[in-house]
Amino acid sequence: MRIVLFGAPGAGKGTQASQLTDKYCAAHISTGDALRQAVADKTDVGLLAKGYMDRGELVPDDVVIAIAKARLAGTGDAGFILDGFPRTITQAEALDIALEEVGKPLQFVVNLSVAEELLIERLSGRWVCPDCKEPYHLVSKQPKVSGVCDKCKGKLMQRDDDKLEAIQNRLRVYNSQTEPVLDYYTGKGVLRNVDAVGDICEVFARVCEAIGG
Ligand code: AP5
Repeated sequence: MRIVLFGAPGAGKGTQASQLTDKYCAAHISTGDALRQAVADKTDVGLLAKGYMDRGELVPDDVVIAIAKARLAGTGDAGFILDGFPRTITQAEALDIALEEVGKPLQFVVNLSVAEELLIERLSGRWVCPDCKEPYHLVSKQPKVSGVCDKCKGKLMQRDDDKLEAIQNRLRVYNSQTEPVLDYYTGKGVLRNVDAVGDICEVFARVCEAIGG
């Protein structure tokens, strides 16, 4: 499996990637998770990325392309699920070149589509496990024990960029810089649009249908 999960902030990319990883054992590559780890570890990349992320802006292309390529190089035969990459045409072109070099082109780009009001509701109610990265929600996906991750027992937390002002900026940035990437993939014939409103399991069934699984 070689797919990109595409969609606005809060569309459910991380949630669906977790389900796909459980089903297909493919590597889950999230540039957002990799950047948050770099920020937590206070690496050079993390120190550079923090300001962009807190403001809800995109981290420069050369930084995220290097992260994505390093992660892709470590994937095995089960393939990968890219979550949050690519987000610009430059990133999409770099991804194509990297995959062509190893003769393993993208199979599908799954675009998770959700109306903006619902995105804000999802992001402002989100809690995340900082250890295994599993996302939860105050209403739609509560952990079995309040504040504790079902999967690894990590202590759930809210992301710094899930504050209203940063959420609104992330949505603006998505509309202006990331949504145009959809045209790029339409032209390549790999785009699959999925209605991502509904129960998480229902959406997962639609994603699986879209990729023929
Ligand atoms: P990143 O971590 O990628 O954030 P994002 O794209 O803004 O997406 P989110 O993680 O917020 O949402 P999601 O779609 O994964 O939704 P989730 O499944 O969690 O990026 C963060 C930052 O890093 C960027 O702003 C940028 O600065 C930088 N960055 C990362 N990649 C970059 C790149 N390639 N280039 C440049 N900069 C980059 O779900 C959200 C909530 O909704 C959860 O609470 C969940 O439980 C709930 N939910 C999910 N599905 C459903 C459903 N069907 N029904 C009800 N609730 C649901």
